Order: sequence, then structure tokens, then C-alpha cells
Amino acid sequence: MTIKVSAISNSEANLKVFADSTVVVGDTEYYPHIGATDMLDNVLITDKPDVLVVDASVGADMNILQQIESALAKFPQIHTILISPDQSVEYLTLAMHIGVRKVLASPVDALSFQEALRFAQSRLAAVALASAATKGGVVIAMVAAKGGSGVTFLATNLAYALARQNKRVAVLDLRFSFGDAAIYLGNTGAKTNVVELAQQYLRLDEAMLEASMAKVSERVHVLVAPATPEQVADVTPVAIEKIIEVARRHYDFVVLDVSSTLDAVAIKAISLANLLYLIVQLDIPNVRAAKSIGQYLRAHGCAPDKMQIVVNNYTRGAHFGLEDVEKSTLARVARTIPSSPAAVSNSVNQGVPLVEITPRDPVARALKEWAENLAPLNGNGHTNGNGNGHTNGNGNGNGNGNGNGNGNGHGAGGPLNLLRKFMGFGQ
Ligand SMILES: Nc1ncnc2c1ncn2[C@@H]1O[C@H](COP(=O)(O)OP(=O)(O)O)[C@@H](O)[C@H]1O
Ligand SMILES: [Mg+2]
Repeated sequence: MTIKVSAISNSEANLKVFADSTVVVGDTEYYPHIGATDMLDNVLITDKPDVLVVDASVGADMNILQQIESALAKFPQIHTILISPDQSVEYLTLAMHIGVRKVLASPVDALSFQEALRFAQSRLAAVALASAATKGGVVIAMVAAKGGSGVTFLATNLAYALARQNKRVAVLDLRFSFGDAAIYLGNTGAKTNVVELAQQYLRLDEAMLEASMAKVSERVHVLVAPATPEQVADVTPVAIEKIIEVARRHYDFVVLDVSSTLDAVAIKAISLANLLYLIVQLDIPNVRAAKSIGQYLRAHGCAPDKMQIVVNNYTRGAHFGLEDVEKSTLARVARTIPSSPAAVSNSVNQGVPLVEITPRDPVARALKEWAENLAPLNGNGHTNGNGNGHTNGNGNGNGNGNGNGNGNGHGAGGPLNLLRKFMGFGQ
């Protein structure tokens, strides 16, 4: 999703810092305005920005907060970042109170500004997602670049983390033969499986769906896959469409564990998703597969802006970085998940979600952050008792620290360069 960023500043140098940062962060259109805040209303009306940057560091008007307040009263959805030398608690509290999302200290530091922009981006994406799904729950398709990329682990554990954000979540195991999603969450109880449900799709309704689900917890239900592949052909695109549509009406989130065989049923499922995560590990076979899958999905009409890359088992300093993956797949790396073999294997083998069994593990934290990002707790959640004050801004509560790293670790010479070229990484 491309966001529009408008900046108002008296300083050419600062406008340049903002400009360079929007380029680093990517997916932005930038509109600089040299001058003072009296131009605020005009800028908002003509640019219609998603993000407003007000630089109060040089020659700024003392009434700046009042001006922002009256402008934001008209455009409350604009994500506003204020740069100010005043970092007193009173000033920060007041700024948050009038709806400023982030106050950065001046002189402005490019890295902090980029972080604030990324945070704005991920928050705006979550807001857009929620409004796109007003008719029902958000459908998230998770597709493996290759087997063993971690799709089932991530799909099930993200589902569980979303439930901890007070959401009702369904996991649909679309790996129709030998699917194992329920096992990752400790549920081995046999229920009606997805094939049996597809066979009766004409009479499927919400009650029937709920009755078919394995109940991992009150808020996490799994539609299991059959143990053997005999009647998989009964799952047709029409049947899967009905199952997903009913699930979307009944749950806040519907997470699809899509097998890496992209047949007509998988394509139908993916086309119904609001968000598509392609799970990739940083090795050549994975990235190569991700590139082909991306091309294939685009050719089948899956909107490019809903496809995002999640790098699993991420370690910095690999032979190639996140930028290379982005160049090759033409999709954005939305998030990285670190590697934590002992904790993950313990969770999988005990069938206890990672955020439950080892909450402090880095992978558990990444999952939690991912879920918070997709389903921020607001006034009616636990985090934000009094509805205003500091809680919803400066603390960066939903942070995206784990998001789009800086793509370091660029390649070595020799054969790797050839591979890089072959895969379209550029030099
Ligand atoms: N971030 C991670 N760190 C360590 N191990 C992981 C991680 N993600 C997945 N795994 C392990 O990788 C294996 C394959 O994961 P799985 O979800 O079954 O892959 P897929 O469904 O894509 O075939 C599992 O045994 C899981 O324990
Ligand atoms: Mg799997």
C-alpha cells in the first residue's frame, strides 16, 4: 500500500531528510512544503495525505498545537508526526491528546524518522484492512514458498496470538491431504474435516461450520484436513468459496494454511483473501520459488498489493538481504521472524502455542507483535483503560520493530553473483 506523506517545514535541510527517508522506507509519495503551519489547512485539502509531518523545530509558531488540533478535527484519520525541541511531559501529553501520533525530538534523526514512517505504514495498512473487511472477518492466506518454510507453524501460532487480542479466529487447513494444522495447537480430536464439509457445501451455514471445527480454545477453532487424500477432488473452488465466506461471517479472522500446490482451489482461496503472506526462508531455492509463485499469482489476478513476504528463520548477514527478496519477488517484506529451533520444536511437539509455552522467546514476541499489528487493542481492549493520554501514541505500542529491516548482508562474489543475476536481484 502506497502512502502519501506531506511535510511542512521552515528548513530545506529537514525537508531533504524527510525526502531521503521516504525513499529508504519505500511505498510512499512525498509532498514537501517549505513554510509555516498557517498553510496546514491548504496542504491537507490539496494533498489529502495519509501521513502529515509538521516540523516545529525551526522558527515555529507557538500556536502550532492549536493549529494542528483544528486541522485534525477536520481530518482525524491523518497520521501526524510532529518534530519538536520541546520534549516535556506536558507538551507530549498535549500533543497526544489532540491526536498527534508521534513526537520526535529535534534535530531530527533520520533513523527515528524512518521508524516512525514504518510504524505509520503498518498502522495505516491495518486500518485499511479492517475497513476492507467491514462485511466480515479478515481473511489471511499463508502460502509456502517451499514445503517446510514454516507456514503451518506460523498460521496456527499467529491465529492463537490473534485470539489473545480478543479476536475469534478460524484456521482452515487447506493442505487437503495429510494436513496437520490442528496438531500444532494440540488438538487431535477428530471432527468433520474440510473435505466432508465441502461435500455438503450447499447446506453449509455458520452453525454447521462451527459444529465442524476442532475447538483449540474458546476463540480458536480449526477446520481440520483429512488424514488421507482419497476424496480431495470433492473440494471444488465453489465449495471452498462457500466455506470461506461462511467462516468470514462467523469469525474476526480466518487464517488459511494453503498448501504450496497452487491448484484451482488454492487460487480461489487466495483470491478471496484480504491479505496474502508468502512465507520464505532466505535461501536460493526458497527465494526462487517465491519469485515464481509471485509471478504465477499475479498472472492469476491476485492483487499485488495484498501480497506480502514474511521471511521466516531470519538471520541477518545471510548471503542476500531483504531488499534482494523484494526485488526478486516484486513484493514487500512485511515482517521477519527469527529462528528459534529449540523453543519452536518444543511448542510443536507438545502441541502448545509458542506464545503460551515460551512467551519470552524471540519468535513468540514476533508473533505477538504481528498479531498486535493486525488487531490492535483499542478502547475496548485491556491496554487502554482511559481512552486517551499517552497510551495510544508515543509508546509505539504496536511497533513494527520486527518489520522491514535494512536488508543488509549483501552478497559475496563468484557463483553467488551469477545466481543473483539469474534471479533478477540486480547487482
Ligand atoms: N521460526 C522458526 N524457528 C525455528 N523453527 C521453525 C520456525 N518456523 C518453523 N520452524 C520449524 O520448521 C518445521 C516446518 O514447519 P511447518 O510449519 O510444518 O512448515 P510448512 O507448513 O511450511 O511445511 C517445523 O518443524 C517447525 O518446528
Ligand atoms: Mg504445513
